[in-house]
Amino acid sequence: MGDLLVVNIGELVTPRGHGMLCGPAMSELFRLRDAYLEIRGGKVTDLGPMGKAPQDFPGEVLDVGGRVVTPGLVDPHTHLVFAGSRVEEFLRRARGERYTGGGILVTAEATRAAGEDELVELAIPRLKKMLRCGVTAVEAKSGYGLSPEAELKILRAIEVLGERAPQRIVPTFLGAHAFPPDYGREEYIDLIVEEMIPRVGQGKLARFCDVFCDKGFYTVDEARRILEAGKRHGLIPKLHADELAYVGAAELAAEVGAISADHLLHVSDAGIKAMAEAGVVGVLLPGTAFVIDEPYPPARKLIEAGVPVALSTDFNPGSSPVLSMTFVMRLGVLKLKLAPEECLTAATLNAAAAVGLAGEVGSLEPGKAGDLVVWDLRDFRELFYWFGDDVAHRVIIAGEVVWASP
Ligand code: NIG
Ligand code: FE
Repeated sequence: MGDLLVVNIGELVTPRGHGMLCGPAMSELFRLRDAYLEIRGGKVTDLGPMGKAPQDFPGEVLDVGGRVVTPGLVDPHTHLVFAGSRVEEFLRRARGERYTGGGILVTAEATRAAGEDELVELAIPRLKKMLRCGVTAVEAKSGYGLSPEAELKILRAIEVLGERAPQRIVPTFLGAHAFPPDYGREEYIDLIVEEMIPRVGQGKLARFCDVFCDKGFYTVDEARRILEAGKRHGLIPKLHADELAYVGAAELAAEVGAISADHLLHVSDAGIKAMAEAGVVGVLLPGTAFVIDEPYPPARKLIEAGVPVALSTDFNPGSSPVLSMTFVMRLGVLKLKLAPEECLTAATLNAAAAVGLAGEVGSLEPGKAGDLVVWDLRDFRELFYWFGDDVAHRVIIAGEVVWASP
């Protein structure tokens, strides 16, 4: 828990608040030129114009030489823990084959064969790469185990990663990611509801319960049963919703009180309205649409309807081998037609809200965590402009510099 005084900030740019923002509020950033930011005990204690910076700060002073500072990015939807590679499938799709989700079972086979320690070792460098893009908090899902033992093994690996990696890590149980070949459909859902969810809840191994509710995967009725069972064991619902086809998953998200509905490539107008009314965060994953070459989700429509929108990588070995939140934010501007200001809110405060962390991270203001990125930029809009470039200069978590550009 560091004490750090950041001085000579060219521009401090942050959304503000302790919950999700929607509509025009997504663009209303707090911006301060020539600023300082004070962190004590890992939390922001003060900020203001350089002229008022404390003179006798007892801790480390970091001069950022006029660079841009934003809150640390939050990646609220990742399949961080898995073994194996799907490069063959990727190349088949690059030649025109359509993505169906069938490859999940290929990754599940490799992940079942790997030990917990091996899964941890595979995930550590992924988290490092995320860090260098400015990501200070990460949601991580199970879902490539698809048996009680293998799902719990992944969640335990995520727990270890939370202790070993610098980032804040939020675990999600996604046993309902596909149907494993070694169980019948009903049998597997019973196993999720009667065995896996109670064990996950009891061991406090996850905060959320997610279901891949889509064509060829879990139906709305099956997803409802699983998410309701999760709620009885303290797991907050989340959904992979209407990604491959419209099935009414966004409507279900609103009905069960899900914290977020993610993907939404084929969301209906009724689903959008229901999400806005229920305050469900819409987590958009444009890296996935980019990789599987499908139409992008209707981001403008969601924002105009009052849905709080967040952005995420969906990092996974199949539909989104994308570790970079900055790449996703750039797609947000270029393909989802979001304004830079909307993208920053979507990748910080609203992303934090999608994983229940908006009270602690996602903005820079007194009381929030001292998690921030110093960007090697003078104009915050250029974050969205230098496609393919890593522009983070320093990444700071709880007042400690955890990554510095070489
Ligand atoms: O979020 N849609 C379901 N799950 C992942 C893809 C998983 C895979 O292909 O391995 C996703 O896109
Ligand atoms: Fe996903």
